[in-house]
Amino acid sequence: MFNHFYSGKRVLLTGHTGFKGGWLSLWLSELGAEVHGLSLQAAGGPTLHEVIAPGCFASQRVCDIRDFKALSPAIAEIRPDVVFHLAAQALVRRSYQDPLETFSSNATGTAHLLEAIRINRIHCTTLVVTSDKCYENREWEFAYRENDPLGGHDVYSMSKGATELVAQSWNRSFFLNDPDLGPVVTARAGNVIGGGDYAADRIVPDCIRALMEARPILIRNPAAVRPWQHVLECIGGYLCLAARVARDGKTSPVASAFNFGPDPSSLQPVRRLVEEVLACWPGEWVDGSDQKGVHEAKLLTLAIDKAASLLGWRPVWTFDQGVRATIEWYRHRHEAGNFEHGMEGFSRSQIRSYVADAVRSGLPWTA
Ligand SMILES: NC(=O)c1ccc[n+]([C@@H]2O[C@H](COP(=O)([O-])OP(=O)(O)OC[C@H]3O[C@@H](n4cnc5c(N)ncnc54)[C@H](O)[C@@H]3O)[C@@H](O)[C@H]2O)c1
Repeated sequence: MFNHFYSGKRVLLTGHTGFKGGWLSLWLSELGAEVHGLSLQAAGGPTLHEVIAPGCFASQRVCDIRDFKALSPAIAEIRPDVVFHLAAQALVRRSYQDPLETFSSNATGTAHLLEAIRINRIHCTTLVVTSDKCYENREWEFAYRENDPLGGHDVYSMSKGATELVAQSWNRSFFLNDPDLGPVVTARAGNVIGGGDYAADRIVPDCIRALMEARPILIRNPAAVRPWQHVLECIGGYLCLAARVARDGKTSPVASAFNFGPDPSSLQPVRRLVEEVLACWPGEWVDGSDQKGVHEAKLLTLAIDKAASLLGWRPVWTFDQGVRATIEWYRHRHEAGNFEHGMEGFSRSQIRSYVADAVRSGLPWTA
């Protein structure tokens, strides 16, 4: 897979204790990479990290990316070939409670990372993960393309637009013309579902918490349509993009920003997602629409033609397959009594079955 690019590579993952970081770490270890993690201490309560950690990492560091004096020597010591930057305050609602933490972790933290790579003269491929929310949401029905204007109503969305600008600016000012420094690219995805997400205020973790406590699921916005995507879809996109830009170089067309969104058939109302969850794990839901809640952006979808034509990347699983895989993961962990035991193997088996489906679809990255 990925032209054997990752085998033996030193890969640094910021945000490795998080939801996407966990799945990316596991997949990289499947590919034979030497994976180094750098994050804040994992949050209390169940995490994906605690069930996958033993088999995944060559090293793990607790480090706050807002602290440049701590970050820079850590980067110098790891000297990665590839960096996947996922560390961020990743929740819209929390950005209303702590806007400064959100801005400094997301935008300034990205500047710190790129500056640490620059001043330590590390020739690596860097992929910065942002979000579909980096676009100025005009609340129109067209899908957003990579060259649409950046923006953001809430602080989280703005911080992701700002992260894009930070990456672009460091790239143009320092990386592009310096032969000692590698390419910097950004990747935009959103509304990701999958096993092992325990974040507050996200719909699937909210469903799981309610189901585990045998209470009805309270749905804030049942009619809101969202572009749902299984986590392995966008992680596969990140792996695909980093491997290609490492090969093609920083002046190639792939050395740029990419959307990794779902197929249009995965655009479904929250109510439909919850019904699909309940088909896999029986329970009940109730309408808890809150008209006075914080501003929630209207539908925003990503155009994925660029990833399809330049990378040959496209979604593999249908909406139903993605939801099923997600709920099977949680049931396996919480209902079948496998709280920790065997979850790393179970998670690896989900990656293998996703890859097998991608092979059957003939996607070029599987070669
Ligand atoms: N999950 C989604 O639906 C989604 C959608 C769009 C974009 N994203 C983006 O993907 C990335 C990963 O998201 P996730 O869902 O895995 O988030 P998560 O909250 O599960 O994990 C966040 C990770 O970042 C680390 N982190 C946060 N602040 C840090 C700091 N100051 N210093 C060091 N580490 C820090 C945490 O320790 C954790 O490892 C983020 O950039 C997020 O904005 C996620």
